[in-house]
Amino acid sequence: MSELALLGGSPLVNRKWPAYNTIGDEEKAEVLDVLESGILSAFHASPGKTFGGGPKVMQLEKEWADHFGVKHAISMNSATSALYAAVTACGIGPGDEVIVNPLTMTATASAALVNGAVPVFADVDPHTMNLDAKSVEENITPRTKAIYAVHLAGLPDDMDPLIALAKKHNLWLLEDNAQAPGAFYKGRYAGTIGDIGVFSLNCHKVIQSGEGGIAVTNDDDLALKLKLVRNHGEKLLHRFGLGGKDNLIGYNYRMTEMEAAVAYHQLRRLDKLNEWSVRLADFLSARIRREFDFLTPPLVPSSSTHVYYFYQMEYDEDKAGLPLDLFTEAVRAEGVPVASRWPMPLYRQTIYRDRSAIGTTGYPFSKPWTESDVSYEEGICPVAEQWEHRSFFIETLVRWPNEEEHMELIVQAIQKVMENRGELLDAQRKSAAELVG
Ligand SMILES: Cc1ncc(COP(=O)(O)O)c(C=O)c1O
Repeated sequence: MSELALLGGSPLVNRKWPAYNTIGDEEKAEVLDVLESGILSAFHASPGKTFGGGPKVMQLEKEWADHFGVKHAISMNSATSALYAAVTACGIGPGDEVIVNPLTMTATASAALVNGAVPVFADVDPHTMNLDAKSVEENITPRTKAIYAVHLAGLPDDMDPLIALAKKHNLWLLEDNAQAPGAFYKGRYAGTIGDIGVFSLNCHKVIQSGEGGIAVTNDDDLALKLKLVRNHGEKLLHRFGLGGKDNLIGYNYRMTEMEAAVAYHQLRRLDKLNEWSVRLADFLSARIRREFDFLTPPLVPSSSTHVYYFYQMEYDEDKAGLPLDLFTEAVRAEGVPVASRWPMPLYRQTIYRDRSAIGTTGYPFSKPWTESDVSYEEGICPVAEQWEHRSFFIETLVRWPNEEEHMELIVQAIQKVMENRGELLDAQRKSAAELVG
């Protein structure tokens, strides 16, 4: 019998990994407080009431703005809502283009589409997955209105070249910072550098309130518009002295008092949780560098800090002598839950392939809605397309409450797979022959 768990041996790790649960007594007490108050949400449109939410929402927004050193923090019910609202607040609509990283999560590009604009995908850096400013520049047209930088995996984009492009071409610079809360770029918090930055508090983020998002900005006008989009753009706005400002469509993107109460205490834990991840990641990266020539740990440029929402590794299949999928499957069988591949570039989604996202008229991709003739063909972002073939990542193991000994288990599982790689390849050849035969 083989040593390898994938071939019938016993797994290296046969106990459960510690759960990632950051909800403490403070969160529980404050949620109870909310329940006892009977105020579960408090966005009113009546005189004497508040258009900006209840006490917990306001407490969270103040704390968030103070923590990140911004003028305004506007809570929403998800980062998706905040991404959509940011595009609306900037007045972007049909006929416009928004430049987006194709390796991001669906919502960043959908933020353009739901506003009637067209996403244009620019290529990424070969070692960070973040936007390549040269490719961004090549994709700017007279219709471009914004760049959506996405700080993927926990590492900020290289913002200076993007700031320069936004200035030169008079574009909005938006930041999808769902994955990098607390990371720095040249001494500034990721998410606070562009015109609007968006954070996520969904259940798989480093800090969470179940669902939730925050948009931050230093611009008073954008802040007001974000609040209007969050709350229906309400016909009652004149009661708050906001009549005449409501010529934009609004939704219900409001956060509840319970979510805000949880998020407030979660924010207070963010720095410690990030410090913990960085310590583990530094340890793991050093071990990987020492042990495996076919793996490259996450790159951290000297301009930035990384908060390791995901711990991403580059995989050199030729050096490893093992197909990526077989490698990750074998590591997973050893009890180390690594993810196989970074998800495909967004433009492979059917909505882009068929140019059909809303209704049946081709809106917003075709004439008369837009003059854009954006390509979503294979090959438009060759570097982004390579990522899924040459990388894999670890989702939550490089986090509190794991310790260095847990990182060592990751290393040992990889060692075990590589020491028995010949057997894996034999088994693969055998099953291929059986399929053919
Ligand atoms: C980069 C990025 N953008 C946006 C989102 C959407 O966040 P939410 O689930 O809070 O809407 C996510 C969530 O996974 C994300 O990773």
